[in-house]
Amino acid sequence: MSLSIRASDLVKDYADVRALDGLDLEVEAGEFFGLLGPNGAGKTTFINILVGLAERTAGEAEVFGYDVDDDYRQARDAIGLAPQEYNVDRFFPIHEVLEHKAGYHGIPPGEASRRAQEALDTVGLAEKADTRFDWLSGGMKRRFMLARALVSDPDLLILDEPTAGVDVQLRRDLWTIINRMNDEGTTILLTTHYIEEAERLCDRVAIMDEGRKVEVASPGELMDRGTDRITIDLREPPTTAPDLSLSGVHDVQLSGSQVVVTAARGSALVPDLVRELDERGYEVAELDIERASLEEVFVDVTRKESEVSA
Ligand SMILES: Nc1ncnc2c1ncn2[C@@H]1O[C@H](COP(=O)(O)OP(=O)(O)OP(=O)(O)O)[C@@H](O)[C@H]1O
Ligand SMILES: [Mg+2]
Repeated sequence: MSLSIRASDLVKDYADVRALDGLDLEVEAGEFFGLLGPNGAGKTTFINILVGLAERTAGEAEVFGYDVDDDYRQARDAIGLAPQEYNVDRFFPIHEVLEHKAGYHGIPPGEASRRAQEALDTVGLAEKADTRFDWLSGGMKRRFMLARALVSDPDLLILDEPTAGVDVQLRRDLWTIINRMNDEGTTILLTTHYIEEAERLCDRVAIMDEGRKVEVASPGELMDRGTDRITIDLREPPTTAPDLSLSGVHDVQLSGSQVVVTAARGSALVPDLVRELDERGYEVAELDIERASLEEVFVDVTRKESEVSA
């Protein structure tokens, strides 16, 4: 297994604030990895350490085997970052900003110019090449940040809330671009507060809270820990909730004429559920499963965690 990111017992103190408190994290090369966590969890701090914008207090951090301090140049050259806060030269035409960025990564001028054009094409900003950053619309600024992250053709693309405040269409456009990058082999580290975004895109997600990793798993595995809701229409509407003795069932309720069953791993339970209802003389007319969302599991995990440490 080749790793794109490895952090071990990573600590970052800002004066008396411990932003990272012994973070352990491994991201495999080629993964689409999500970093979730409430405000202040330490996500941006971690990213800043990877790209050399913040210095760790203790612990280890490597990018493709390169220590982020000792082998700063190699580690930094492997990363394209779209940061949470804009830090762009606002007065230059955006294609020049991209050429500078490529130059910073050691790409010669002719090639840099070609890459800049290509990155603007990729994000649909080709016709704005001569415009300065602060004259772009909000959504165009987001596109541009992605272009700037792409221009050095990085092996690791780090996106810190790339779709914050963008409209639905642009969000989907950005997803398509990022997915394509990932299909072509680029490792993606994505932070987002749109948990659904992580659910759709990520191979695995880590949930962080208070500077530590609380969970790491695929969205599907995490969702399996939540509670699914199965709504059943019976041929003959019952007058009381059926008595079910299946393991995994949390609750059975009557809601109007419908039976509502809450259970872990609802879809795996359905065959047994239908059989048991049948044995008890109920005929199922229609059945609908509403799966636990990653968002519910996220809220659950981060709430429990802060209660435990409070
Ligand atoms: N430059 C800084 N100086 C002092 N404290 C900082 C600095 N940067 C971050 N912090 C503190 O470190 C903690 C973690 O912040 P960080 O920005 O990493 O969180 P985050 O998970 O990215 O949150 P968000 O979801 O709001 O972006 C917070 O308590 C924050 O106030
Ligand atoms: Mg942040």
